[in-house]
Amino acid sequence: MRETPYEREPGYALRYRDERFRSASGPGTDRRERRALRQLLAGGSWPAGPWLDAPCGAGRLSGELPGPAVQVDRDPAMVAACAPGHRRACASVHALPFADGTFAGALCHRLLQHVPGTAERVAILRELARVTRGPLVVSFFDALCLQHLRRRLRTALGRPPSQRSAVGRGQFLRELAAAGLRPLRVRALRRFVAEQTLVLCVGAGG
Ligand SMILES: C[S@@+](CC[C@H](N)C(=O)[O-])C[C@H]1O[C@@H](n2cnc3c(N)ncnc32)[C@H](O)[C@@H]1O
Repeated sequence: MRETPYEREPGYALRYRDERFRSASGPGTDRRERRALRQLLAGGSWPAGPWLDAPCGAGRLSGELPGPAVQVDRDPAMVAACAPGHRRACASVHALPFADGTFAGALCHRLLQHVPGTAERVAILRELARVTRGPLVVSFFDALCLQHLRRRLRTALGRPPSQRSAVGRGQFLRELAAAGLRPLRVRALRRFVAEQTLVLCVGAGG
């Protein structure tokens, strides 16, 4: 399957690391995302071992994982922008260079809203499930909220279409099932207001 391109201009990785979550609404978003991730993982008895953070971006959330993180991103500049202290690799989530069940768990945060097609999202979820023997936390953009409505209105009023893809919660749960994953808990950052939503899931047999 052909990957959706996700190219960035020079300097993007350092700006993402140093500015994206430190200005305007960024700090609030960062706080809410960390809280949602902690709430999802709290109280679970997860297998011991390394956790995959893919895509890791500049490694913002790696320290929130309950095991030592292995950071993976397709963009070498992002991998290079991660602070030292974790193992890292440059690779695509479409073909992760790890054996089945390598990781105790995995995080896939802020990727799927850049992937417009159902089949590609399901392929990515399957690949993440393949390398993980424990839980997967994955984020998606939920279409049922004011932020998404505003995006659509802006496009209808002639602004360039948004590069973000949102789907309904039911649709995303069906995509998880198609990838062999079973949702345990869902946390929206601000339900019906903001798109960002995190799901904790496990392999359908788990
Ligand atoms: C918005 S950043 C999110 C980073 C991090 N998870 C966070 O929440 O801060 C999205 C990242 O996905 C990476 N990416 C896009 N497509 C990818 C792919 N197919 N495989 C691995 N990484 C990819 C980009 O290089 C970028 O660093």
